[in-house]
Amino acid sequence: MSTPNAVPDNLMEAIVSLAKRRGFVFPSSEIYGGLNGFFDYGPLGVELKKNIRDAWWRDMVQRRDDVVGIETSIIMHPKVWQASGHVEGFTDPLVDCKVSKQRYRADQLFFAPVVVDGNTVGYVSALESEKTVEELQAAAELFKRKKGIQGQLAPVQPRDMTESKPEEVALIPSPATGEPGSLTPPRAFNMMFETYVGALRDASSVSYLRPETAQGMFVDFKNVVDTGRVKLPFGIAQIGKSFRNEITPRNFIFRSREFEQMEMEYFIHEDADWSKCHVEWIEWCRQWLLSIGLPESHLSLYAHPQEKLAFYSKGTVDIMFRYPFGVQELWGIAARGNYDLGQHAKASGKPQEIFDEASKKKFVPHVIEPAVGVDRIFLAVLCAAYAEENVTDDKGAVEKRTVLRLSPRIAPVKVAVLPLLKNKEALVGRARELYKKLQRRYAAFYDDGGAIGRRYRRQDEIGTPWCVTIDFETIEKDGTFTLRERDSMQQRRIGEAELFAMLEEQIF
Ligand code: GAP
Repeated sequence: MSTPNAVPDNLMEAIVSLAKRRGFVFPSSEIYGGLNGFFDYGPLGVELKKNIRDAWWRDMVQRRDDVVGIETSIIMHPKVWQASGHVEGFTDPLVDCKVSKQRYRADQLFFAPVVVDGNTVGYVSALESEKTVEELQAAAELFKRKKGIQGQLAPVQPRDMTESKPEEVALIPSPATGEPGSLTPPRAFNMMFETYVGALRDASSVSYLRPETAQGMFVDFKNVVDTGRVKLPFGIAQIGKSFRNEITPRNFIFRSREFEQMEMEYFIHEDADWSKCHVEWIEWCRQWLLSIGLPESHLSLYAHPQEKLAFYSKGTVDIMFRYPFGVQELWGIAARGNYDLGQHAKASGKPQEIFDEASKKKFVPHVIEPAVGVDRIFLAVLCAAYAEENVTDDKGAVEKRTVLRLSPRIAPVKVAVLPLLKNKEALVGRARELYKKLQRRYAAFYDDGGAIGRRYRRQDEIGTPWCVTIDFETIEKDGTFTLRERDSMQQRRIGEAELFAMLEEQIF
């Protein structure tokens, strides 16, 4: 018996701890104290990440007739990033605290005037969180009390630092020191990592680690059209690493400085109904997230307000996920018009048009761009899958079980094979034989160490959907073994053919 799906209050802490303990994710360069915003994926993490990538590639590229894949270099000609606008404008607003030397993203640093009886008597600040408004209100009350100010305190009206007036900046306290006077006005901070290509280190050799994979699809557009036998509408997809010198990497792997993207540029006729296509891709992406086990209850859509879109953008909708630290962007689906191809045509002097047989017209196609981060999906999957339960055994003893309810599609280990006893040759021999057979097709695991209940728990904790136990019935009777199901913990007898048929059905 178990209590259903209990999620601990400190879910993020529990996930970070499990990720480290069971070899999913480690801090990068940990023996040297780690490097903020960089992570390593351990033996189980690398399998889970690969399964996410593989599922996306199969569904996005291999199972579609209208999408092809490419892999472009991480370092591209610097002119790519000038034409795309990244050199000029790929910035986040930065605020420094001159005293503590802390740096903040201005749009994540909130402040509010403390207004008593209609007069502003000071300012309070807080970093963005689920509770920003409550924190600012509490800070305003404390400010009023400490200063001994009498009168009616108005509810706080939070703004972020990008909305601060020049005369307000000196009055807003730094979150690090609690005192005003040390924050700088917001300034643009370019997030691209610079490097040098070749033996010379001067302005002529400056290049960049790509901040997105998308530009690879644009600059190779003509190559794909000329060689790929593609017809509008069609997509070019890519999976690969991207790099951003984020001012405040945070929330574990949610916002890091090196991460992996899965992006697709879907090129459409200039006269096509872009809005219909946009909506179709939003729904495709949503359905795909459901197919890898994310619950519908955690997903929502956010349409960017028209006034905040880039001038060329027709619309952007984000699929949001309810992480433990708040509802945040998981997957952005943007209608980008023909801005990118147009920019590269202008900058390179090479036309980026396509001749459309159907309309007998030459034009620069428009594009719908679904862009998602593998690491963000990885984290979403862990957050949705993690549960702690109290389990009562046959003897009435209660124990805690930690379980990752991962979809079989992406679970790092699909099936574990466990001989009931490790000192009985016949059991071990049959278990090893089945394990070897399973291993040819699936990520399987062999474990003969410790009590069987313990071994089940170890598999529960890493999300293995099924355990197969080879017992005396297997070798003395009909050859069937015990199949133990992770989520229900139910057990039943199953034969080899049935086991393989079930795995084939469930792992697609
Ligand atoms: N080509 C469009 C583009 O790159 P974006 O919204 O900046 O758009 C797309 O990034 C996706 O990449 C995001 O929705 C997110 O899933 C992921 N992503 C962006 N920055 C990230 C970061 N610093 N760490 C982890 N994932 C990130």
